[in-house]
Amino acid sequence: MIRLAILASGVGSNMQAIVDAYKFGILKGLAEVVLVISNNTNAFVLERAKKENIKSVCIERKNFKDEESFNKEILVELQAANTDLVCLAGYMRMIDKEILKVYNGRILNIHPALLPKFGGKGMYGHFVHEAVVKAGGKKSGATVHFANEEYDSGKIILRQEVEVSKSDTPEDVARKVLEAEHKIYPQAIKKVIEENLRG
Ligand code: GAR
Repeated sequence: MIRLAILASGVGSNMQAIVDAYKFGILKGLAEVVLVISNNTNAFVLERAKKENIKSVCIERKNFKDEESFNKEILVELQAANTDLVCLAGYMRMIDKEILKVYNGRILNIHPALLPKFGGKGMYGHFVHEAVVKAGGKKSGATVHFANEEYDSGKIILRQEVEVSKSDTPEDVARKVLEAEHKIYPQAIKKVIEENLRG
């Protein structure tokens, strides 16, 4: 069983989709979430973890003197949980070099657009959907990719398109994209486990 750790800053609907996928769906018998880490005390993802009986920890940047010690604490928790694969699920911070080195090729991120479009610094959450609507694009979607040292630029694992109509607001696009995210994140995890993690 592959041990997943989830890093999330907010609502955690992707975390829930991953949990549901091993309880009832395509990740059954393949993976389980053993740890949820949030950088935000008020994040609803922490409530979800409690409800699912999953260990959760809140590691807030403001409680550490610098980025290095903050990230060191995240790494300590990941390793203490014997994490095999790290899933960033609405984690609104850059992942640190040291963590990338230790979990090389084993950190996934989900982005709410069709990368390489609408990615990069400052492109997260509602900003992405606002930019898509402003650009008048006919489609958007979700992308799961490997994390690296630059925002949203690692190797793409899976993408799913959604249609955007002229009358769609950023909130409409967000809803459609989120639905696609919930489908492809478990699929991407399965793909990585089958292609990269199994000997
Ligand atoms: C998701 O749409 C995810 O793609 C996005 O935040 C949302 C989190 O939702 N992530 C980013 O924008 C990161 N660049 P959730 O907390 O309900 O899973």
